[in-house]
Amino acid sequence: MEHVRIFDTTLRDGEQSPGATMTSTEKLEVARALARLRVDVIEAGFPAASPDDLAAVQAIAAQVGTDAGAPIICGLARAAKTDIERAWEGVRAAHRPRIHTFLATSDLHLQHKLRMTRDEVCARVSEMVAYAKSLCDDIEFSPEDAGRSDPTFLYRVLELAIRAGATTLNIPDTVGYTTPDEFGALIAGIRDNVPGAKDVVLSVHCHDDLGLATANALAGILAGARQAEVTINGIGERAGNSSLEEVVMAIHTRAAKFALSTQIDTTQLTRVSRLVSSCTGMAVQANKAIVGANAFAHESGIHQDGMLKHEATYEIMRPETVGATQTQLVLGKHSGRAALAARLAELGYPLQGDVLDRVFKRFKEIADRRKQVTDADLEVLVRDDLPELDEAFQLDGLHVGCGALGMPTATVRLRGSDGAVRAHASIGTGPVDAAYKAIDALVAAPADLLEYTVHSVTEGIDALGHVTVRVRDDRGRVFHGAGADTDIIVASVHAYLRALNRIVATQGVVKPSPPAWTPPPADELRSTP
Ligand code: KIV
Ligand code: ZN
Repeated sequence: MEHVRIFDTTLRDGEQSPGATMTSTEKLEVARALARLRVDVIEAGFPAASPDDLAAVQAIAAQVGTDAGAPIICGLARAAKTDIERAWEGVRAAHRPRIHTFLATSDLHLQHKLRMTRDEVCARVSEMVAYAKSLCDDIEFSPEDAGRSDPTFLYRVLELAIRAGATTLNIPDTVGYTTPDEFGALIAGIRDNVPGAKDVVLSVHCHDDLGLATANALAGILAGARQAEVTINGIGERAGNSSLEEVVMAIHTRAAKFALSTQIDTTQLTRVSRLVSSCTGMAVQANKAIVGANAFAHESGIHQDGMLKHEATYEIMRPETVGATQTQLVLGKHSGRAALAARLAELGYPLQGDVLDRVFKRFKEIADRRKQVTDADLEVLVRDDLPELDEAFQLDGLHVGCGALGMPTATVRLRGSDGAVRAHASIGTGPVDAAYKAIDALVAAPADLLEYTVHSVTEGIDALGHVTVRVRDDRGRVFHGAGADTDIIVASVHAYLRALNRIVATQGVVKPSPPAWTPPPADELRSTP
C-alpha cells in the first residue's frame, strides 16, 4: 500500500488558534508526543514570528529530530530572505530539516494583501524557493489561498517552485471555502497539468470554516495527494484544520476504499489529544469524532442491546485501537517511587530527581484518598508540574468559606517571584468568584474571564478535577491556564493564576500593592477570639 505522509502542524497552525499559545516546555512535550505517535513531519513553528518561536523550534530540532528515525522537523517562512534564514536557523540542527515557504496566489490576496502583480509573484517564488534550496535540501512550497486561485496561474507558480527546487507542493484551502469534489478536482488538475508534479509530493492543507476540512483532505488524497497537513483535535486558525485523528482513522478504518497506509501508532491518539487539549486550554467537544468523551459511548437501549450481541453492530472501530481505554495503574498507596517512575517512563515521562519527588508526593496524596490512580490521573499530575515560564505569582495559601448560610469568602496568599508574600480576602457570588476577586486584587494583570470549565479526569466522586480557564487581556489577546486537584477550588485557583502569569509574562505587569504580608506572631494568633 502506498504511504500517506502525516505532516502535523499543531505547533504552528494549531498554535495560531486564539488563546492556544504554548510555552516552550509545552511545545517540546507535544513534539515528543508527536514523535511517539510516529508522524512523518512536525511543523515546529514559525521562527520569524518571535525570538521565543525561534528558540522553541531550535529546541525541538535539537531534542526531538535527533536521529534518522526521527520525524522531519519543519519551520515555516514567508517567501522573504529574512524569514527563510530564521526558519533555517530554527531547523538546521535536526537530522532531517525542512523549510516550508509560502506566498499567496489568489487575485484577492495579490490585490488587497500583497499588492503584487502575478509576474512579481512568479519572480518572488522562483527566487525564494531557490534561496531556501541553497540552505536546505528538503523544501516545501505552499501557494496560500490556492482554493480560490485561478488554476492556470496556480499551475504556472507551482511549475516555477518545482524548477527552483521544491520537493513538496502543499495546496492550502486557506479559508475553508472549497467542497470535496472541487478540492479533489484541484489536486487532480495540478497532478495532470503541472510539469514535474508527478516527481514531487503533493500535499493537502484544509481549513474547517464550512466543516469540510477532513472531507476535503480525504478527497485530495483520493485524487493523488500523498501528504496531509493536519492538527491534533483539528485546532488551528479560526475554525481549525483537518484533524489528524480523523484523517488517519478514515484511512485506517476504510482501508479497502483508500488502499493507502500511514505509519501512525493509532493507540496513542487519545493520549496526544488530551495532552494538546491540556497544553492549549482548548477543550475537546464530547461528540468529537475519534477522541471525544462520547465517541465510544452507547446510550440508547437499542444500541446497547446491539452492542451486547455484537460490537460491530454500532462500532466501526474499537476504542482500544485509538487508545480510548483506561489502563488502571496497579500501584496503590503502598507503592514506591521506583514503581511510579517505571510507569511514568512507560507513559513517556522519564522523570527523575526533584520533579519525580514532587509528582510522587502528589501521587501518594491521591492514592491515600482514592482506590485507583489511573494513567489519565498520572498524566494530569505530571502536566500540572511542568514549569511555566516566568511564573510571577505562585499560590502560597488558600482558605474559602461557602455554603447556604453565609457569604462566600476567600482568602488568597500569593508568593511573588521577588519572594514577597501578599494576601487578600474577598467575598463573591461563590467560592471560585471570591478567590478570583482576591487574586485580581493582588495581581494587576488586566483580565476578563471568558470561559471556565471543570471536568473530572476519571469517573467517581473522588476524581481529580481539571479546570481550564480562558481570559482576555486589555489588548484583546486570549490566554489560557489549567490546574488539577481533587479540590476543585484549588484547581480553579491554579488555572486562573497560570492564565494571569501568561499575561504578566507578556505585558510585564506586577502589582506593587498591597504591601507584603508578614505572618502575625504566634501569640497574637492564639489570643485572637
Ligand atoms: O492555511 C494556509 O494557507 C497556511 C499556509 C501557511 C500553508 O497555513
Ligand atoms: Zn493554514
